[in-house]
This record gives sequence, C-alpha cells and structure tokens, in this order.
Amino acid sequence: MGVAGAAAGEGEAVSTDSATWWRNAVVYQIYPRSFADGNADGIGDLAGILAHVDHLAWLGVDAVWLSPFYTSELADGGYDVIDHRAIDPRIGTLEEFDALVAALGAHEIKVIIDIVPNHSSDLHPWFQEALASGHGSQARGRYHFRDGTGERGELPPSDWESLFGGPAWTRVDDGQWYLHTFAKEQPDLNWDHPEVRRHFLDVLEFWADRGVAGFRIDAAHMLIKHLPEALPSQAELNSWSGVGDHPVLDRDELRELYRTWREVFNRYDPPRTAVAEAAVPAERVPMYASPETLGQSFFFDLLLGDYDARDFHDTIDRCLATAAATGSSVTWVLNNHDTVRSASRYGTRFAGMGPNGFPLVKHGMDWLLAHGDPVLCDAPRGLRRARAAALVMLALPGSAYLYQGEELGLPEVAEIPDDRRADPAFFRNPGVDMGRDGCRVPLPWTRTGASFGFGDGGAHLPQPAWFGRYSVEAEREDPNSTLHMYREALRLRRELGGIDELEWLPTDSDEVLHFRRGPWQVVANFGPAPVPLPEGRLLLASGELGKDLPGETTVWLVDG
Ligand code: BGC
Repeated sequence: MGVAGAAAGEGEAVSTDSATWWRNAVVYQIYPRSFADGNADGIGDLAGILAHVDHLAWLGVDAVWLSPFYTSELADGGYDVIDHRAIDPRIGTLEEFDALVAALGAHEIKVIIDIVPNHSSDLHPWFQEALASGHGSQARGRYHFRDGTGERGELPPSDWESLFGGPAWTRVDDGQWYLHTFAKEQPDLNWDHPEVRRHFLDVLEFWADRGVAGFRIDAAHMLIKHLPEALPSQAELNSWSGVGDHPVLDRDELRELYRTWREVFNRYDPPRTAVAEAAVPAERVPMYASPETLGQSFFFDLLLGDYDARDFHDTIDRCLATAAATGSSVTWVLNNHDTVRSASRYGTRFAGMGPNGFPLVKHGMDWLLAHGDPVLCDAPRGLRRARAAALVMLALPGSAYLYQGEELGLPEVAEIPDDRRADPAFFRNPGVDMGRDGCRVPLPWTRTGASFGFGDGGAHLPQPAWFGRYSVEAEREDPNSTLHMYREALRLRRELGGIDELEWLPTDSDEVLHFRRGPWQVVANFGPAPVPLPEGRLLLASGELGKDLPGETTVWLVDG
C-alpha cells in the first residue's frame, strides 16, 4: 500500500536535538489532583508528584503534561482558573513547582503545562470587577456581556447551549447576561480586549521563565469570537457553512494571535513549544500546528474511533498526511482526562461516528449510565484491545500522549455514587452524561493500604476495592503486566526511533494491519481469530502468543 505520510518532511530523520524534542516525544499527562497526595488532604499535589518522579523516570517518558494546578474553585476540575500565575495551595507552591521541574529535568523529563485561555473562573478578579462595575463598563469588556431578549431582558441573548449541557448564558444581578461555553463558573474571555491578549503573553513568559518546555492550549480553537448584534441561533451555529468565519469557533484571526505567542516561544533556547487542543477538521489543523504558530495540534482521531483495523488504517494515513502538510508531527492519543479509559471503552459497544466526526454516543456512556453493569462491558476484552491498540499507537511516527494510569491498563471506575461525583458535565446533563470522574479517580500505587498508596488522607473520588490489582506495586512485580509492556515499548521505541516513514505491507485479512518502519515491523490482528505470524525476531507482544498471532493482539518484530 505504499509509503504513508513521511510525516516530518520527506526523508527527514527524526531529530533528537533539543529544538525539536517534541516531534516524537512520549508525553505523560498528570492530572495533579489524582496522581499522588503528599500532604494527606485527599487531594493530589506537587509533593506527591515529586515523590514519584522515579516512576516516571523508570517508565521512560520524555515529558510530563501537568493539567491545571492553578488556584481554582474546582467548578471544572481546575479548568476554572482564578490566578494563572499562582498554584492552588491545596496543590503546592511555586517553590515546589521549581523543585519538580528540576527533579524531572535531572532525568531529562520536560514539563508541559496547561494554559486555559478561553475562559477564567468567575472568581477571577477580572470577573469580580466586571460584576461590580456594571453595565457598559470597561471591566465587562473583558468578557462577553449582553443584554437579554424578551420584554424585560428576562430571556438569554440567544439559545446557545453550553458544551456541558444547559444554556451558555447566565444572568447577573443587574440583569445582563454573560457567555460561558462551559460551566457558568467559566465565563468566556473577550479576546478582542488588548488586556486579555497582553495578560496571556505575560503568563506564557512567566512559566517559560520557570523552565516550562511547552504548553497545552485548552480549547485553542475557541478564543476569538465575533458576536454580531443579531446573534445566530444554535442551529445556525451547528450548520455553519463558512470556513474561518464561524462566530465562536476556529476563526481565521487565531493564526495572527498564535503568531504573537510564537514570538514569545522563540525568545527561549530551546524554543518553547505548544500543542493545541482544537477540535477542527483536518484542513484547519495547519493554522494551529504550523511552526509559525503553536507547533502541534492534538489528533483525537484514534481516541474517538473504534478498535477496528480499517478505522486505524485510515486514521493513521489521514493524520500522517495532515501533519506532514503542516511541517508538524502527529500527536497520538488514546486516553485523557475527558474520556472513558480505553481499557473499558474498547470493551463496550461502539455507537458509531456522527456527521461532525464525534461519536454518536460517547464510547462507554451506556455502560456508565447503567452504573457499570458488567453485561455492557467485557472487561478482559477491553484490556486486551487497549494493550493491542497501545502497541499500534506507540509504534507510529509522531508524539504519543499517555494519560496517567493508562500504563497500568486501569479501567474506568463506573461505580462512583452520584453524591461523590464532581464533574459539571454530570450535573448539567442529568441522565445523559455521567461525566468524566471515572477516569479521574486517584491512582493506585500499592496493592492495599490507605487509598492504595495515593495518600494517607483518603481519596477525593472513591477508589473501588479492585483497584489494588492495577497498582504500580502489583504490576511492577508481574513481568507480564501492562506496566511492563508500556515500559518496554517506550524503551524499544527510543532504540528503534529515528525513521519517520511508515510503509504498509499487504496482509491476507482485512482485520490485520502490518506496517514497517525501517527494520521494525508491527503486526496488529484486530479480528477474533488467530493469523500466521510473519517472519521476524519478536520484540514485544501485547498478549500471550501461541505459534500464531492470536486475535486482538499486536506484535513488534525486527528483521533478522
Ligand atoms: C478540557 C476539559 C475542560 C474544558 C474546559 C477541555 O477541553 O480538556 O477538561 O473541561 O476544556 O476548560
């Protein structure tokens, strides 16, 4: 089937020099509140991460991405930021942050942090000032305030819906309304306001000065909005045909904005890098991922798709081609803090993709809505497929993002009582969305003991009794564990890396993918039945092998 992608530019070898370290990096996402708790208050913190730097070094990751650790009222797990330059006291201090950057740096692990520029917390001083200053004030100009409709302005300015469910407008005491794409505690900032622009340039500089190597830009396609006097309806927004002129998404002006960010990045040596979280069609990716703007953009295609050979094949080709066209590299993702974990997702029914490229029903949501009914999720199969998918992902050219616990094959926790849930997506969408808490349950470090080694002060989301089986302790002792598989994959990937081309090889079955990168071959059997193993020396397998390659199993081979 020929050579796909040549992702980093024809013939160009993977560079390991420091300016392009991100192109093929394995980045490990830490959700700080749920990684490890150093001060026994039930909430993970920087001290907890510091105590487990050895785990990250042992695993062999190139960088960590820290989800928000800023001061926050936790209306959206920290994505509601009160002060972009301060660390929440429950999570740590700036001194601890510096110590963490240094400790990771000693193992050559870089730090990427989350920047949340689309909105602030409603407790941010700017929003408080806007509330106090009233109608038409300069302070309200930093957000999107509008008068209501209806005879006395008692109706919202438009019928827009928040992405977490419910209306996207909330009314304040003096009768005006403000826009929030997410929860009502997350008012959208107005990026036409020069102070907003200036502020975030300062924020980027502040963290870059502290040794941060890169930034993950939250909702990067939403920042600039153009709200006409007569607002379009939600239906009109959904079916917008123009490109680059949508009132609230993916506007052309973002290119110019991110160029100004690039100027900041390039002032550093090595230049800082960034990855956009932007849900946009392939042809729009270059605006975010070009070397003149952010440098990379997440590709969620694998995460949103099914465990299916054809889907994987098409996705891989499409993403490599898109990245090649931008001069960037693909960022592969199977898990993050917003999605049902792959070990469970792949054991549940896939409802298919909707016309906008998102799954019709979020993978695994039926199972979550049924409070983890085991009939709806084949757990062993989910894990088998998750391991097989991981070995495909980790063999691809480009960077790979792992989400904490993925290396343990940790399943989603479905059995969280409603009164312990914290995600606004759950509260704003009763009966439709169980939210994202199930992938944010504090990690198990030990087989038994207080919070399975998370910390001595309990866990802010309840851990199930079966958690210890997936603990770092248990899996380190078992050479066949998912943890050892990931570690070996990362080691081999580093050893074999350097070839950006991927060549598809023919197979006898539509359910089998076979590709080569230099001397390295990957064979993935997505079907249920065993198939013959091609020639080659076995490097790694996602499951037990017979003389054939069993179903739902991936192997890495090397010539000779
Ligand atoms: C983050 C979510 C967050 C949302 C609002 C997303 O894209 O990944 O966790 O809820 O942005 O900040």
